[in-house]
Amino acid sequence: MTEAITDQGRKVAAHWSSLAVSYEGAVKALQDKGIARADARPEDLHSVDMIHMGGLAATDALAQQAGLGRDERLLDVGAGVGGSSRRFADHYGAIVTAVELSETLSSTAIRLNELVGLSSKVTVINGSALDLPVASESFDVVVMQHVAMQIAEKEQLFGELVRALAPGGRLALHEIFSGEGELRWPLAWATEPAMSALEPLEAAVARLRALGLSPGEFIDDSELGQRFHMGIIDRWGAAADAGREVDGLPAEVLVKRVAASRAMEHNLRVGSLRVGRLISVKTG
Ligand SMILES: C[S@@+](CC[C@H](N)C(=O)[O-])C[C@H]1O[C@@H](n2cnc3c(N)ncnc32)[C@H](O)[C@@H]1O
Repeated sequence: MTEAITDQGRKVAAHWSSLAVSYEGAVKALQDKGIARADARPEDLHSVDMIHMGGLAATDALAQQAGLGRDERLLDVGAGVGGSSRRFADHYGAIVTAVELSETLSSTAIRLNELVGLSSKVTVINGSALDLPVASESFDVVVMQHVAMQIAEKEQLFGELVRALAPGGRLALHEIFSGEGELRWPLAWATEPAMSALEPLEAAVARLRALGLSPGEFIDDSELGQRFHMGIIDRWGAAADAGREVDGLPAEVLVKRVAASRAMEHNLRVGSLRVGRLISVKTG
């Protein structure tokens, strides 16, 4: 683990360690679908291993928007339990490095890679986006999904993403931005304002330009995001209320995730939050 972890980083890591699916939970979710451990394929895990709005469909949309191709070197920053990393490797043929702050999520990602036979194609490193443990200019594509909204040190974060990119490489963002009006809490990543570091899309785009990137069109997925959270409330709400486990997640986790989904759905509907995809090319 890198030395760069801050107090804020420790809080962020603890937050996601308490909400993400565990290895045992993912295996239980497979068993509930009648899939034995030995038969598990990456796509069997995607209903539980992606921690972003839109799940697998959003990951595929991002990969296609970035024109991800076979044997491209891809860095997945803030990779969670590795769902998107496995998709990029298995379905698109990328050679993936995943960097994740939480030790718990990193080790779940490693075990899930082993489970579905992807250890040789996805390397997981427990480290920080603020001090990426990778060589400069060593990736064709750098992906970041639902991470920047909880990191206050934006200059440092984006400086690191650009450093990792090879000239001509693409930065593929699937991120959350502030909109207009009051936020309802809790957010998916923050139970209090001190845990959140939202900024408007325009500020992010200006920074990308200043760093020598050429941003393409922003694809706004806010409506999809809203529907995604309605789906979570439908799928997990009753189990959360009844204290039952679903999808390998214990009831106390479902309660927190459903509460966040109710607030997130509202924020996306009224426009106080936006989510979307943006590909930028490193021209220099
Ligand atoms: C909403 S989850 C998204 C996970 C993954 N990108 C996905 O879409 O499934 C945010 C992740 O970013 C990670 N993260 C937050 N700050 C980070 C940092 N400074 N360095 C690396 N990872 C970080 C969290 O630990 C968490 O796993």
